[in-house]
Amino acid sequence: EQKHVNQATARPVTLPDAQRVTEVKHYTDRLFSFRCTRPASLRFRSGEFVMIGLMGDPDPKTGKQKPLLRAYSIASPSWDDELEFYSIKVQDGPLTSRLQHIKPGDEIILRPKPVGTLVHDALLPGKRLWLFATGTGFAPFASLLRDPQTYEDYDEVIITHTCREVGELTYGRDLIQSIREDEMLAELIGEGFADKLRYYPTTTREESPKMGRITDLMRSGEVFADLNVPELTPETDRAMVCGNLAFNLEIKDMLEGYGLVEGANSRPQHYVVEKAFLD
Ligand code: A2P
Repeated sequence: EQKHVNQATARPVTLPDAQRVTEVKHYTDRLFSFRCTRPASLRFRSGEFVMIGLMGDPDPKTGKQKPLLRAYSIASPSWDDELEFYSIKVQDGPLTSRLQHIKPGDEIILRPKPVGTLVHDALLPGKRLWLFATGTGFAPFASLLRDPQTYEDYDEVIITHTCREVGELTYGRDLIQSIREDEMLAELIGEGFADKLRYYPTTTREESPKMGRITDLMRSGEVFADLNVPELTPETDRAMVCGNLAFNLEIKDMLEGYGLVEGANSRPQHYVVEKAFLD
């Protein structure tokens, strides 16, 4: 399916920046993850994203094809040989309506220029790191949670993940489990690193042990009581946010309310925000 043909010459076209898909996993009718080969020259910081995609349909007049690209957070750790991505499937989404059908052996386009604000460099030193995700916003944190620096820099790392349904938590839950059991990470970071990692999953539209939007659970104080930690303060707490737009705006407001200031690569502060990919 990923063989692209020049309509005028009927000859196969080699994709620019092509990488080969090595694995695809489907979680729900809305979510899947995939892995692909990594360009030898690609270096990235945990939490960054790259542009990836497929060749678009031929222009009806000229027959020319242009790449159809979207920003995807790299979910794999920077020491991995391959790259991993976590994606939504939107049935009428320009890219994901097609990307959801990729199979091992297919080619995708990957522009090897990583960028992004969800990086350690954009935060000042602190004691506790909060990672707030909704939906596919978990992806950059999947990389950060496998970076030794995350545990070296903080005494405690709390990841919250709010999804509509229980099945949408699977990717994150499996990843947290695999991190806790990862002997190479334990060797790299030190035994007991997993005790620093705390996972707080919530659902909003299907019954689960913890229900509600993370924002509401913070306002009511329930999160802090459950985790037995104080409310966030600029003295001790740092935060990274990645989710849908409404969530990002709401939690940004709350973080500002706690006195935290937004940071950037060029000006490290207390918290950083990025939009999760929605196609
Ligand atoms: P809800 O079901 O109440 O809308 P989506 O899949 O649409 O991106 O949503 C992912 C999760 O983010 C859902 O559980 C959704 O809750 C939640 N969410 C949406 N908007 C907000 C918001 N403003 N604050 C907190 N959570 C939100």
